[in-house]
Amino acid sequence: MSGYRIPFNKPGLVGHELTYIADAILRGHSSGDGCYTSRCHELLQRELACHRALLTTSCTHALEMCALLLDIQSGDEFIVPSFTFVSTANAFVLRGAKPVFIDVRPDTLNLDEALLEELITPRTKAIVPVHYAGVGCEMDVITSVAERCGAKVVEDNAHGLFARYKGKYLGTFGQLATQSFHETKNVICGEGGALIINDPAYAERAEIIREKGTNRSRFFRGEVDKYTWVDVGSSFLPSDLLAAFLFAQLEKYQEIRSTRQRIWQTYADGLSEWARNSGVSLPEIPSYAEQSYHMFYLLMSSLDVRARLIEHLKARGILAVFHYVPLHLSEMGIHFGGRPGAYPVTESVSDRLIRLPFHNDLSPNDQAEVMESIRAFRC
Ligand SMILES: Cc1ncc(COP(=O)(O)O)c(C=O)c1O
Repeated sequence: MSGYRIPFNKPGLVGHELTYIADAILRGHSSGDGCYTSRCHELLQRELACHRALLTTSCTHALEMCALLLDIQSGDEFIVPSFTFVSTANAFVLRGAKPVFIDVRPDTLNLDEALLEELITPRTKAIVPVHYAGVGCEMDVITSVAERCGAKVVEDNAHGLFARYKGKYLGTFGQLATQSFHETKNVICGEGGALIINDPAYAERAEIIREKGTNRSRFFRGEVDKYTWVDVGSSFLPSDLLAAFLFAQLEKYQEIRSTRQRIWQTYADGLSEWARNSGVSLPEIPSYAEQSYHMFYLLMSSLDVRARLIEHLKARGILAVFHYVPLHLSEMGIHFGGRPGAYPVTESVSDRLIRLPFHNDLSPNDQAEVMESIRAFRC
């Protein structure tokens, strides 16, 4: 992403990251589950009011833990939007399950809940909604369909930390949910994630799976006198150095949120007239959603117009990017039966969406320049 005067993303510091990392080193605990990991767990549990939050090395790994916790096996099916990142599907495919893709709504770009019922089969084990851009999916419908068919809900909330649906935090609706702290997200630590556990029945096994299949967490709490191999698992816990970085960001989450809200609103206000006159759509936020201000995107009228806008901005030193090649049209997706035309909204959106530079340090001048350049573009 270098070489652009105005990059798409710029991961930065918001507070005490460097002091906390130094402190973690000086404490002599740089492996996982040190004091900064506990602080992150406590903060997430307190703010989200979830049963447990466990830091992981990525959202991808948190999703893999979900598939293990739900005992996903060969022959199982899970419903997942085609318009998402590969990890949302791969985590379950790794355990042998078959993705059943679902199209998205043209307004929020979230899975279209009206299409859910017809995709349910006796093999449906999980529904995996993605809160695209941190705008909540229709969780009332999704959770009631899941309850009726006995499927579990795993919310991929990579974009939506501290956003809400009808007043309740995203990530607290499904039995399980996942967060990302990758450097492109709102709250970051380079690479990182979290598993959010809302159904207490999964908490003990989650600790074991995260600690290489051992009961080491119980050992550290003094509940057993030695630890040993008790289940499948892997090494899903991050170093406390990353947790130290993350804690410094998490404790500033409200400031980060207001900064991003200002940036988002400036784009929305500054581009609305141009968009109206140019056949371009801006993000739609339903009244039930309090979004996370994760991204600002434009939906252009065609693939060709989008390619021209990307080039137009590039010529001015500005990097804007597209998002998500539909999973059902990827090599793996085709292997699972995907074919062109199957999910028309996904295909259309994927051709037309462009994400504008958006990060916590985007200066008013740079943002003004991005908007000026866009307004100078003839669609
Ligand atoms: C919807 C979604 N889920 C999962 C991920 C994977 O996150 P991570 O990089 O933390 O593994 C991403 C990455 O951007 C994403 O957009």
